[in-house]
Amino acid sequence: MDISGKKAIVLGGTSGIGLQASLMLAEKGASVVAVSRDPSKAGDVPSSIRLGALDTRDPEAVEAFFNIEGDIDILVNSATGGSRAFGPFMEMDMKGFQGSFDKLWGYANVLRYGVSHLREAGSIVLVSGSPARRPKPGQIALSAVGSAVEALARAIAAEIAPKRINVVSPGIIDTPMVALSGDDRAKHYQNVTKTQLIGRPGDAAEVAKGIVFAIENDFITGTTIDVDGGWLVAQ
Ligand SMILES: NC(=O)c1ccc[n+]([C@@H]2O[C@H](COP(=O)([O-])OP(=O)(O)OC[C@H]3O[C@@H](n4cnc5c(N)ncnc54)[C@H](OP(=O)(O)O)[C@@H]3O)[C@@H](O)[C@H]2O)c1
Repeated sequence: MDISGKKAIVLGGTSGIGLQASLMLAEKGASVVAVSRDPSKAGDVPSSIRLGALDTRDPEAVEAFFNIEGDIDILVNSATGGSRAFGPFMEMDMKGFQGSFDKLWGYANVLRYGVSHLREAGSIVLVSGSPARRPKPGQIALSAVGSAVEALARAIAAEIAPKRINVVSPGIIDTPMVALSGDDRAKHYQNVTKTQLIGRPGDAAEVAKGIVFAIENDFITGTTIDVDGGWLVAQ
């Protein structure tokens, strides 16, 4: 796909990975709508990118949003959804575990109401995460949700073809999702990336490049692209 002149919707497009995807798509000439629950938090976004407010967990709002937006060519969803549960399964607050699936339901809503507005040559990218296929201790919820996202894309690909759908799976990426600052932030990332083959956190732009690759390459659908610093193959 030649991105220039295409219309792109990026859910979760106001921060981190989604924001970088929005910026790259706009840079390549797409008309981009970057959406989140509270886009006023977005900070410095070029005026060429239109901001929108939407909670992906609200199916009626998602349906109304796509009806207003009309035809689209590119649909990216990297919205985190809601809260996430961590820790051993046997000690996990089950409401927290269920709440982690808000991300999946958000993705499901966006597919349910967005796919019919996607042009035939259109492309969708969802975002999972490395724990989907290689969970570390305490990542049961992240793993279950991420696996479900990847399975959803694989399963729906045939149903929506020739429209394409792929997943990008990030490893540990330095984004506003982690609220730490200063030394605490540096120590956190040093600690959580020390066993990776590439011993640093990824940059959101490195993941966005994976998203753009999946959009531009017309011969890819139903698959997952890992951008993870070697998380999956580290000892
Ligand atoms: N960063 C990592 O290390 C990492 C690793 C693996 C996977 N991931 C995945 O990558 C994706 C992007 O993460 P990120 O690090 O870029 O996070 P981020 O910087 O916190 O950005 C998340 C974005 O999602 C939006 N959002 C959250 N819930 C939403 C909802 N219900 N409806 C609409 N928008 C919503 C947020 O804006 P509002 O708050 O305004 O809604 C924000 O724009 C997530 O799916 C995450 O699980 C990240």
